[in-house]
Amino acid sequence: MAKHIGILTGGGDCPGLNAAIRAVGKAAQDVYGMQVTGFLNGFRGLAQDQTMELDVRLLSGILTHGGTILGTSRDKPHRMLIGEKMRDMTEAIVSTYSHHQLDALVCLGGGGTQKNALRLKQAGLNVVTLPKTIDNDIAMTDQSFGFDTALSIATDAIDRLHSTAISHSRLIVVEVMGHRAGWLALEAGIAGGADVILIPEIPYDVGQVAEAIRERTRKGKHFSILVVAEGAMSRVDAARVGKLAQDKKAAKNEVEKRKISSKLQKFHDDHVGHTIRLTKQLEELTQQESRLTILGHLQRGGTPSALDRVLATRLGTSCAEVLNNQEYGVMLAIQGEKINSVPLEDVVRNKKFVPVDHPLIAAARLVGTQFGD
Ligand code: F6P
Repeated sequence: MAKHIGILTGGGDCPGLNAAIRAVGKAAQDVYGMQVTGFLNGFRGLAQDQTMELDVRLLSGILTHGGTILGTSRDKPHRMLIGEKMRDMTEAIVSTYSHHQLDALVCLGGGGTQKNALRLKQAGLNVVTLPKTIDNDIAMTDQSFGFDTALSIATDAIDRLHSTAISHSRLIVVEVMGHRAGWLALEAGIAGGADVILIPEIPYDVGQVAEAIRERTRKGKHFSILVVAEGAMSRVDAARVGKLAQDKKAAKNEVEKRKISSKLQKFHDDHVGHTIRLTKQLEELTQQESRLTILGHLQRGGTPSALDRVLATRLGTSCAEVLNNQEYGVMLAIQGEKINSVPLEDVVRNKKFVPVDHPLIAAARLVGTQFGD
């Protein structure tokens, strides 16, 4: 009997999702004769049985489109807001899966989606995942689709900010996405010739950053470009977060743990505006007129780059092959030249941060880029 496959996109959107849906859908239907049903708005559509039949006509013409035709959300199967209450919807999800007589579920998403997919595997579902995120922080894969497009957008923005920074002899701070991992800031910073790059993996000293700018002025360079990941932190803040995380681990009971969690949450909420504060601080310390540009969701919008289209197509078609072989509980990953399937447990157990001794950091330092350390 023909296999019936469900597919959903979870977490933040990114360019390349439609290219991946098209690749899975076309190969699964045209080559392997499967039926493919899309679930809308991430895991919510699965919990509430909101579907869309993905016949090949619908998949035509979406390769170059940004976003996701399925819609997405950050809903988690085990903690979903239903009405006014947070509910565990795992049972509802299992029942939708059985009701549609699905043979497997394909989840396209970032770190959170990989974790959620693993939970559904543990609840008895056959799952296969694909890695998407502009943060490029998913373990076991060299790259996730979405990253390359975001990198081009951020680099183009830095190029444009360069000319205006030079004209006005200003310091321009550019905030790019990346809460926990600094890949996007690092690579866009290198590609755009940033003078300072601040990433979450290297806590910075604001005094050092200011000194790097003053040194440029002394050398006759009257403008500077700082590329800052949204999750970059000063040494003081990083120490505070580290202490809270330690306390949380050592907490003796659930009440204590929840108290520390809410302190951590408050810290992260307050950290959202940190580049505004940093820009002001640097203006005072360097006496150089300063401006801030936050690229935000621009980095996630629009048409995917050629590289992301190719990567999404390779991952998506390999996914159909893996489904046909009934290999479940895996994520498709690009490793060197090859697309391999890797156990979800290995993906979820790790996160891909920038190692402080990474060759990209070394290369940036060798062209004079400062990291504020
Ligand atoms: O997960 C990728 C990401 O782009 C992060 O870098 C960013 O902080 C986050 O999504 C913001 O997403 P949203 O505003 O959609 O929740």
